[in-house]
Amino acid sequence: MDLVIKFNLFQQYQFEAVIHLAAESHVDRSIASPLDFIYTNIVGTANLLNAARAIWADNMNDKRFYHISTDEVYGALGATGAFVETTPYAPHSPYSASKASSDHLVRAYHDTFGMPNVISNCSNNYGPNQFPEKLIPLFINNILHNKPLPVYGQGLNVRDWLYVEDHAKAIDVIFHKGKNGETYNIGGNNEWKNIDLIKNLIQIMDEELGRPEGTSLALITYVKDRAGHDLRYAIDATKLKTELGWEPSIKFTEGFRLTVKWYLNNEQWLKNVTSGNYQKYYEAMYGNR
Ligand code: DAU
Repeated sequence: MDLVIKFNLFQQYQFEAVIHLAAESHVDRSIASPLDFIYTNIVGTANLLNAARAIWADNMNDKRFYHISTDEVYGALGATGAFVETTPYAPHSPYSASKASSDHLVRAYHDTFGMPNVISNCSNNYGPNQFPEKLIPLFINNILHNKPLPVYGQGLNVRDWLYVEDHAKAIDVIFHKGKNGETYNIGGNNEWKNIDLIKNLIQIMDEELGRPEGTSLALITYVKDRAGHDLRYAIDATKLKTELGWEPSIKFTEGFRLTVKWYLNNEQWLKNVTSGNYQKYYEAMYGNR
């Protein structure tokens, strides 16, 4: 396998900045195929860093390489506390280990080559256009089609949910105002136990679909837990608020309803993305559980 990309695009367009969001991002897929994550997330990031370094070598001053990462690099929390930017890295899944590794590479290029780099680590996103491998769009699609809702373990894991547009706004602020060599945590200050989030989703879905309240609760199906399932994530985004003035603007009740409505108004999109390979993925993931 050729692990090195050619720098054609960088040479052709002489990019002055890179905002690097490309990644294999789904934990379950990383458990099934770890090498895909190592290739895309680690080797892919190294390739981008090398390409940027090659064209910026003469003058790095007004350039910027911004790497978008995840709170999962910090590992799992117990019942209390929150991740800060100095929390030691302790990833548990091949996905989070590959993101942690790419973060380290970005820092190494800053420290070794003086590349003007910045990193952000964000909590769980929700909103339109999210692929239905992730909890919320997967469950919306399943409720819509009266399919079982596969809750891992006892549904007691906790995640901190942020509306995707708020993440985009944070990226904009960090890209323009963040300091080189720094890391910024981004979070929704909005923790939910999975099972509570799922029940809330069911309530909204039943309402929007005109089903009697609680109808879809019967779809909840407890299945074998995810291997290495992190118990809780929570983000302390104080640094981003105090230094750069960002905080979430969309209330969860508003964003969650908007999200449900978006999927219901875009059923064709859901149909398109769940045809073909998705069926194979779904069968392999959930077929026998
Ligand atoms: O924390 C940020 C991370 O959030 C991002 O870096 C990842 O790219 C993104 O996938 C997300 O990771 P999670 O593993 O937390 O997201 P996911 O939607 O897969 O699962 C959310 C929670 O729901 C998690 O505790 C596992 C649980 N779950 C998920 C699925 C897909 C279920 O109980 N059943 C399911 O079928």
